[in-house]
Amino acid sequence: MASLSYSVVLILCFSFFKSLIADSNSSFSFTNFGLNSSFDSVLTLYGDAKVVNGGSSVQLTAPLESSAGRVAFKAPVRFYGGIPKKLVSFSTYFSFSISSDSGNGDGLAFVVFSDGYPVDLFDNNGSFGLLSNGGDLKFLSVEFDTLMDEKYGDMNGNHVGIDLSNFVSLKARNLSSVNLGLKSGNRLQVWIDYESGSRRLEVRLSKFGENRPLDPLLWQQIDLPKIWPENERFFVGLSSSNGNSSQLCNVYSWSFKTRRSPDWMHSEPLDPIVFKKGEENEIKIHEKNDCVMKILSALILGIGLGALGSFVGMFVWMLLFARRRPVSPEENAAMKPVVDEKSFSK
Ligand SMILES: *[C@@H]1O[C@H](CO)[C@@H](O)[C@H](O)[C@H]1NC(C)=O
Ligand SMILES: *[C@@H]1O[C@H](CO)[C@@H](O)[C@H](O)[C@H]1NC(C)=O
Ligand SMILES: *[C@@H]1O[C@H](CO)[C@@H](O)[C@H](O)[C@H]1NC(C)=O
Ligand SMILES: *[C@@H]1O[C@H](CO)[C@@H](O)[C@H](O)[C@H]1NC(C)=O
Ligand SMILES: *[C@@H]1O[C@H](CO)[C@@H](O)[C@H](O)[C@H]1NC(C)=O
Repeated sequence: MASLSYSVVLILCFSFFKSLIADSNSSFSFTNFGLNSSFDSVLTLYGDAKVVNGGSSVQLTAPLESSAGRVAFKAPVRFYGGIPKKLVSFSTYFSFSISSDSGNGDGLAFVVFSDGYPVDLFDNNGSFGLLSNGGDLKFLSVEFDTLMDEKYGDMNGNHVGIDLSNFVSLKARNLSSVNLGLKSGNRLQVWIDYESGSRRLEVRLSKFGENRPLDPLLWQQIDLPKIWPENERFFVGLSSSNGNSSQLCNVYSWSFKTRRSPDWMHSEPLDPIVFKKGEENEIKIHEKNDCVMKILSALILGIGLGALGSFVGMFVWMLLFARRRPVSPEENAAMKPVVDEKSFSK
């Protein structure tokens, strides 16, 4: 009887870890794009994108006018997963550089493409090679914009913005005001996190080699399933175009992973709200709340895993203990594969 309940626990453990493994399926990490990184089984290069310098980077744009390129994750990312179904949270990190130019190079964008968006198409009229008029084919992007494009209300040629199916940013941040330059030619690094519980998209940026900043540079509430209610999956990519300049954009590393938040972290659905600029205090409060939530969830997960672990431990101990003890006739009988009338009658 005891061994039956332990098998049940083991089966539960197994399915729990199996679901964890299934969730980690939408993950990749590349710190180089050499032949032996096998990146091409996971990522696809489009347009002018090509691997350069023996795999040290993917060059998205060629040093020619009107060059555009893109690197995208081949596998679709599911909006929902796990049991019970949870909205996906995701995190991505990449390092890149953009060369200085005197023309109208656009810079780089991290893009979440709706299902059906032609990821292989480029539009010279749109920014970053994205469609200027995608109709229902929507995208969410974080732009690292090196062009002051007045028709999109850009503040300058050195800003980060969060865009939703439109190059007029929902929110943007002046990078010059935090002493960062996109077109310096220097390597920069970016962290973008989407937390499904709070529906928050957070963007962090720093010089290469520096630590991940505590406070996001920019964040925005985005209710992904409300934007694409008909979609079950999306795609992610990095896209760049250089207009009439010879701007070069290089990506040196890129990683992406998805997570499912615990059920109780799922706060009430939020509409995309445009928050007032400069609400630094609010950002800090949210960070603290997130922190408390994370510690709480870690604690609960820890207790849960601890309980599971001790069950497994007891099971293993029982096995070992049972094996080490001199075999008693009773156990000997129980171990026989044939059905024993005596053990049933007990
Ligand atoms: C992820 O899972 C899908 C289907 O379950 C499979 O086709 C794909 O090869 C998996 N990807 C990786 C990287 O394991
Ligand atoms: C293969 O990987 C090693 C170390 O990871 C690296 O030094 C080497 O340059 C790579 N070779 C190619 C062809 O990318
Ligand atoms: C690039 O195009 C812009 C207008 O979009 C123009 O002002 C600029 O002179 C052009 N630069 C070059 C190098 O052709
Ligand atoms: C690009 O923009 C020009 C001028 O704004 C317009 O005439 C042209 O039709 C556009 N092309 C596409 C493919 O949208
Ligand atoms: C961006 O920041 C720089 C440096 O602080 C400042 O000179 C510039 O006016 C700012 N631009 C805008 C549009 O706020």
